[in-house]
Amino acid sequence: MRFFIDTANLDQIREANDLGVLDGVTTNPSLMAKEGIKGEANIKQHYIDICNIVKGGDISAEVIATDYEGMIREGKELAALHKQIVVKVPCTKDGIKAIKHFTEIGIRTNCTLVFSVGQALLAAKAGATYVSPFIGRLDDISTDGVELVRQIVDVYRYYDYGTQVLAASIRHTMHIIQCMEAGADVATCPLSAILGLLKHPLTDIGLAKFLEDYKKVNG
Ligand code: G3P
Repeated sequence: MRFFIDTANLDQIREANDLGVLDGVTTNPSLMAKEGIKGEANIKQHYIDICNIVKGGDISAEVIATDYEGMIREGKELAALHKQIVVKVPCTKDGIKAIKHFTEIGIRTNCTLVFSVGQALLAAKAGATYVSPFIGRLDDISTDGVELVRQIVDVYRYYDYGTQVLAASIRHTMHIIQCMEAGADVATCPLSAILGLLKHPLTDIGLAKFLEDYKKVNG
């Protein structure tokens, strides 16, 4: 399973990238706003900065337009910024049409705001590179988000669709483990959830003991 970080914060992106296990970054308009990135030129430069930090990684950049023509115009501009850009498009009627068009002209896409297998089916048929089921937001309404990931993985495998399942709206470390068990191709996670994978008290206790024993002999 590949790891993306779900943030527009450059310090966090650098920290995750320095671990050496980062495969990409997902952003959305809310995450960009959280970092105070505003204005078309600044937003575009921010995407380029992210691409330059995570060399070779896939970087999702979301369209703001909700109509087909606007999505196509914005998506082409975003894709032209850098070869690592993946155009993120919401799972709406116009969005699916736009994904189909982007697929035909060789622009990679991430179909976002997916909450059902039916939406995932349309994304795959349109040729989306990634489909993003939002698991935390489903959990928020007492629906099993990880189960949706499992269902999408199953049907994609059954029908041999090429679209990769990118588990999104991950809120904590356990979500990452559950998505891996469900067969997700990618998990996009907050930095805290990624770092949580490292934590185990027996690792800390074991390391302290190793150092203690070393010092007993070596001073
Ligand atoms: O990847 C989608 C993500 O940014 C949404 O997460 O926590 O706002 O549901 P959240």
